[in-house]
Amino acid sequence: MKVVVTGAGGFIGSHLCRYLQNKGYWVRAVDIKWDNYMSNYADEFVTADLRTAESCSKITQGMNRVYNLAANMGGIGYITEVKAEIVRDNVLINVNMLEAARKSNVDRFFFSSSACAYPTYKQESAAIVPLKEDDAYPADPDNEYGWEKLFTERLCLDYSEDFGLVTRIARFHNIYGPEGTYMGGREKAPAALCRKVVKVSNSGKIDIWGDGEQTRSFCYVDDCVRGIEQLIESDYPNPVNIGSDRLVTINELADIIIGISGKKIERVYDPTKPQGVRGRNADLTLVTKVLGWKPEISLEQGLAKTYRWIESRLQ
Ligand SMILES: NC(=O)c1ccc[n+]([C@@H]2O[C@H](COP(=O)([O-])OP(=O)(O)OC[C@H]3O[C@@H](n4cnc5c(N)ncnc54)[C@H](O)[C@@H]3O)[C@@H](O)[C@H]2O)c1
Repeated sequence: MKVVVTGAGGFIGSHLCRYLQNKGYWVRAVDIKWDNYMSNYADEFVTADLRTAESCSKITQGMNRVYNLAANMGGIGYITEVKAEIVRDNVLINVNMLEAARKSNVDRFFFSSSACAYPTYKQESAAIVPLKEDDAYPADPDNEYGWEKLFTERLCLDYSEDFGLVTRIARFHNIYGPEGTYMGGREKAPAALCRKVVKVSNSGKIDIWGDGEQTRSFCYVDDCVRGIEQLIESDYPNPVNIGSDRLVTINELADIIIGISGKKIERVYDPTKPQGVRGRNADLTLVTKVLGWKPEISLEQGLAKTYRWIESRLQ
């Protein structure tokens, strides 16, 4: 099995390459830049800008499968502030990758969509009803990144129907773990909180965006890559959630991380910072039914590994 993983210099992509290599696949890793922290996790490393059709064509040749994870993305601060560049870059990457996969006759194409595709009106309360796949319509994502994901989901289904390309689509819900972005503005809540707690001295203060009562669910990266592989192997053609259904507030997330650190830390709330939707959780009924998948690593276990890794980087 020869496979290409795009976005392989990033967080989930690098973990996925290692997982697929361990399965015995020949793995081509592609990214525009290499800021990941692992080494020797693919058989071939290609540096390419996938906004161009030519690059996408080259990297898909001779491949049985495409795992398309490349995206211009970041945490809530980044995706709230940047709109046109995110949509432009991601539309170009995804359109060019689908077309290249079709022309190169690949067997299967995986697309990483996002919980950001779900409509705002389903996520206005912190005591949220978990989001089912069908809830995506009528569409009203709260940011442009989510609109682009929804568009590409549809394009994947169109390529399946019109050209017979087998596409599989996962909607990831807050994936976290070691070797992800933890500084620079693109990091997400678990990594940002771990970094803040590592850096502050005992009895110091950390800032929390909003009032900390906004809710999310978080899924450890090892569970995520296992879900990706089960999905691409499956015969299920429509989008499925890959995430956790354990809802926590950002304050509870901070409690766990502070507990891991063993420090005594005060919180300062910053209402001027973006918080995204008020509450978001994943309904796992469909994914459990069609794939038999559910997350296995607890938030406490996953955050402990993530915290220790960020701590080692900052030391
Ligand atoms: N991490 C999450 O919680 C989460 C949630 C929902 C969806 N997703 C999706 O999963 C995928 C992977 O996310 P991640 O967390 O690993 O992000 P990441 O930012 O760590 O990885 C994305 C990679 O894509 C690469 N890339 C961007 N533009 C490129 C280009 N023009 N050409 C080639 N490579 C390019 C980046 O350099 C980066 O290494 C993305 O599609 C993302 O939208 C992630």
